[in-house]
Amino acid sequence: MNITVIGSGYVGLVSGTCFSDMGNRVTCVDIDSKKIEKLNKGIIPIYESGLEQMILQNVKNKNLFFTTELAEALKNSDIAFIAVGTPMGDDGSADLQYVLSVAKSIGQTMQKRLVVVDKSTVPIGTADKVKATIQKELDIRKSDLEFDVVSNPEFLKEGVAIADFMKPDRVIVGSDSEYAIDKMKELYHPFCMSRDRFMSMDIRSAEMTKYAANAMLATKISFMNEIANICEKVGADANQVRLGIGSDKRIGYSFIYPGVGYGGSCFPKDVKALTKIAKENGYEPQLISAVEKVNDAQKSVIAQKIVKRFGEDLTGLTFGIWGLAFKPGTDDMREAPSIYVIKELVKRGAKIKAYDPKAIDEAKEHYLKGLEKVEYVGSKYVKRSVYVNGYSLG
Ligand SMILES: NC(=O)c1ccc[n+]([C@@H]2O[C@H](COP(=O)([O-])OP(=O)(O)OC[C@H]3O[C@@H](n4cnc5c(N)ncnc54)[C@H](O)[C@@H]3O)[C@@H](O)[C@H]2O)c1
Repeated sequence: MNITVIGSGYVGLVSGTCFSDMGNRVTCVDIDSKKIEKLNKGIIPIYESGLEQMILQNVKNKNLFFTTELAEALKNSDIAFIAVGTPMGDDGSADLQYVLSVAKSIGQTMQKRLVVVDKSTVPIGTADKVKATIQKELDIRKSDLEFDVVSNPEFLKEGVAIADFMKPDRVIVGSDSEYAIDKMKELYHPFCMSRDRFMSMDIRSAEMTKYAANAMLATKISFMNEIANICEKVGADANQVRLGIGSDKRIGYSFIYPGVGYGGSCFPKDVKALTKIAKENGYEPQLISAVEKVNDAQKSVIAQKIVKRFGEDLTGLTFGIWGLAFKPGTDDMREAPSIYVIKELVKRGAKIKAYDPKAIDEAKEHYLKGLEKVEYVGSKYVKRSVYVNGYSLG
């Protein structure tokens, strides 16, 4: 199949590469010309285990292409994935400007029947907006080209994204078009060989499934952090309690490690967006709002512990931070709790020696840019530091 993936970030690049690895002809599009230039030179702009090798192999096999030219990419495509960012807007809702701008460009440039797939995490009802935006452009062109809009949320985890994509727990496809569902089934067939993982449903339920999944996982994390905080007060060992409850199959071991709170590019913004969606639709979400509150408080727990131990003035002390990214195995620093912890310590006069196997460049160039008193080190073990683990779960 010929596929276009629009947005070549963590999700777009991994999805496009995995589709190409299954023998499809995939063109990944991005408006960031520097990113595309790098990709065309074989330089991979993000770190994800196994991704570089897979990209290079599929480029060599002429299954995978990179361009900034959407019109060119869409010429022969049967399916176009929208995988651009949906960052948190000022009011906490998901900012749809990138998704709708892509929809507009698709309407302006598509040349044949197309299945347009929302892979970005988007509020319920976005597929309708995407459909209306494309149709408006086709009407301007006086074109009667057919198209379908499908919701296919992505559940990959950064750090193990390739494995997750190649062997998904499930593939959720929301659509009201038999043609589109058939196309999606055909595309995902090689990923569902060992058992049926393909689940089709109506579009709104598919859009909601993604938010519900992330809210559930975030709830587990906040729940366990709250239990750990109570454990400390009553003299119980949170780790023993974790093992004790995780062994119950109904609870399970995943996502119940106490830590510095969840971070990353998904949970914080998706939990906030779901709260906003609920409120806009006349429902006051009490549990989900509490999950966010607990998480916000959890980010300051390490700084509070340090202040309790060393006092408010941390001048003359150097702290080692292990882990800058929001979790191991990625260079993604979006909403990483380490940013919060480091800023709290630096504010009180401390020096930082920070180590991360993948995310130091991201920290230097973006998230901790210009922050004095932060030194980046090439090894975990640097003398005379108090070590703090900055990873969250997510
Ligand atoms: N990162 C994850 O682990 C993950 C997992 C599941 C779902 N998601 C969702 O997937 C979506 C993408 O996330 P991401 O982490 O890959 O984002 P990202 O920021 O890494 O990548 C987005 C890319 O889209 C490009 N872009 C923006 N506007 C464009 C346009 N008009 N045309 C072409 N390219 C354009 C940007 O330049 C960027 O390269 C989000 O909605 C996110 O919530 C992310």
